[in-house]
Amino acid sequence: MKYDFKENDTNSPVQLYVKKFELDSGEKGVLYIYKSFRDILSVTKQATRTLVFAGLGAILITSLLSFVFSSRMAFPLREMKKIAVAVSRGNFDNRVPSYTHDEIGDLGIAFNNMAQQLKYNISALRQEKEQLSNILVGMADGVIKFNIDKTIILSNPPAEEFLHNWFFSNENSEKVLIPSKLEDMLDEILKTRDEQVGEITFGDQTYVAILTLLYNGENVRSIVAVIRDMTEEKRLEKMKSDFVSNISHELRTPISMLQGYSEAIIDGVAQTDEEVREFAQIIYEESLRIGRLVNDMLDLARMEAGFTQLDKQEMKLAPFISKVVSNFEVLAKENFVELNLEIDDNNLMYTFDVDRLEQVLINLIMNAIRHTGREGYHGVVTVKEHADYVNGQLLIIVSDNGSGIPEADIPYLFERFYKADKARTRGKAGTGIGLAIVKNIIEAHHGNITVESTVGVGSSFIISLPLKEKRS
Ligand SMILES: Nc1ncnc2c1ncn2[C@@H]1O[C@H](COP(=O)(O)OP(=O)(O)OP(=O)(O)O)[C@@H](O)[C@H]1O
Ligand SMILES: [Mg+2]
Repeated sequence: MKYDFKENDTNSPVQLYVKKFELDSGEKGVLYIYKSFRDILSVTKQATRTLVFAGLGAILITSLLSFVFSSRMAFPLREMKKIAVAVSRGNFDNRVPSYTHDEIGDLGIAFNNMAQQLKYNISALRQEKEQLSNILVGMADGVIKFNIDKTIILSNPPAEEFLHNWFFSNENSEKVLIPSKLEDMLDEILKTRDEQVGEITFGDQTYVAILTLLYNGENVRSIVAVIRDMTEEKRLEKMKSDFVSNISHELRTPISMLQGYSEAIIDGVAQTDEEVREFAQIIYEESLRIGRLVNDMLDLARMEAGFTQLDKQEMKLAPFISKVVSNFEVLAKENFVELNLEIDDNNLMYTFDVDRLEQVLINLIMNAIRHTGREGYHGVVTVKEHADYVNGQLLIIVSDNGSGIPEADIPYLFERFYKADKARTRGKAGTGIGLAIVKNIIEAHHGNITVESTVGVGSSFIISLPLKEKRS
């Protein structure tokens, strides 16, 4: 029989086995074993189905398992991520709960330790930073940190004041941020890498700047400038040297007078008794002047060292003041000055050191006449006594319509050796210690002295003393 095979015909048989054989009888044949294609297909289908189900089952089981495992792992990781975000925002107090005792649990513990350590280190750093910034803010010296391109990174309040003073000083017409001297010092330190020290002056201010480099390994990271305000020191230095020159001048003049006139007597230049007496009178007055100067200086030195011994007594104030004022009548007239006295309470009793208060009034009245009187000008000096019972103060005011005192000089007026009118240094002015003595005496009486003055209009020196005497 002939059989036609058709491809994909499920009804077609499929040859599965062919074998030649020969029977004992000598007959030969071929054995064909066929199996229907349908049967094979049905087996294949069954196998495929089984495989699909097994596959699906496996997927399901593995998904389930992986879900279980991954959620077991992911939850603590998610928690850790949340806490890591909080830590990155600076909240170090959250902790990862410990869920498991496996690697993830260990990771959580390590993470917690890290957060704790971070918290400790950051708070230590913060404290350090605060301490440093407090020191920086509280420093009397200015500190400016510059970048290597000379821009300012950091500055403390005194440094800001320095920069502000520079910015608004008349010498900074181009309104640049830092003085050219400082700029030069920055260039120099970047070039030489050696510490720089220099003086910066503008207006009437003097600063000293010390520049050092900050390194990052080998490289220069920034420059630190420490700025010290030396204005006061400079002023004191100048005042002292002025004082020395004043005092030597003050002493030289009477000493040369003493020498000259005594020489004249010895050499017989003064021939008449009258002349000799006149020369002797000059010698005597000049010696008094030297004595007064030396006494003034001693007085002041003693008072400033705290040895002010007051010899207080209670007496009527009005007669005392009018007596001191009347002593100046001649001097006032000679200087074309009208001298007035205004007493509020003629019977006011006050306890004070008579000699010292006299010294105060003499100085104030002398100053007033000295800075008011000139020919052709109607100068007026007034001494006023006023008891202000409301505020419990006794006011003694010496005012004039004289030259006045520049506002810039007023804060220094009561310092020793200070003279507002420098041009008069070598003229009729004194040594500049009068007001320092006045201030010391008034303060020893528990009072204070202030000054109000306008240039060209006049000055008022206001002494205020407590009406109720304090025990010293
Ligand atoms: N009434 C005033 N009017 C204008 N300037 C004054 C007046 N009183 C004081 N001054 C200024 O204050 C400065 C200090 O005065 P102070 O009495 O201390 O010194 P002095 O008078 O110059 O010297 P001394 O008093 O030691 O002889 C004076 O040099 C003067 O420039
Ligand atoms: Mg004086």
